[in-house]
Amino acid sequence: MTKPSEFALIVFAVCVSSCLGFTYGAGAAKQSKYTVIGRVYCDTCRVEFETKISEPISGAIVNLECKNRTNDVSTFKSPDISTSSTGEYKIEVTGDYEDSDCDVNLVKSPREDCNEPTEAWRKARVVLTAADGVSGDARYANNLGFKKKEAVPQCKQILTEMGYYELKGELGTEVAP
Ligand SMILES: *[C@@H]1O[C@H](CO)[C@@H](O)[C@H](O)[C@H]1NC(C)=O
Repeated sequence: MTKPSEFALIVFAVCVSSCLGFTYGAGAAKQSKYTVIGRVYCDTCRVEFETKISEPISGAIVNLECKNRTNDVSTFKSPDISTSSTGEYKIEVTGDYEDSDCDVNLVKSPREDCNEPTEAWRKARVVLTAADGVSGDARYANNLGFKKKEAVPQCKQILTEMGYYELKGELGTEVAP
């Protein structure tokens, strides 16, 4: 008569200890899990920042790499990830990278007319550690972009609206044909 209840007690005890153990383990910094989220655009004005006529690129390839800040050795590298129809990517990362610099890198564009890597818009730094006080698993990266081969005609007006037309001299003929 006492056997089944003893058995139940043992099952209960095992469950409690393993459940506690699991919670304990998940709380440690080494078990951190992050989802890095961002978007890839076609820079239709060749200005290396987002405008309202930047176009999301579907099927663009990005990856994420973390490097030891002291000796530049790679500490994490994600597989190549492809963007969705809205140009969005999500990269899963496990671990804590307090001592590394982590960047999302543009790898490849599927668009023949928009595949020029940009200088300013090809890398996005993300912070992947619990030590910086940012809570939550989702980490949003700045958007990235490839430059279109030729700026579209609406750019002049768009950039004027944005207050950039004064920079025409610096931006050169690319923006104001
Ligand atoms: C980073 O490099 C330094 C210097 O070589 C080393 O002491 C440290 O353990 C490394 N950290 C990681 C997380 O690999």
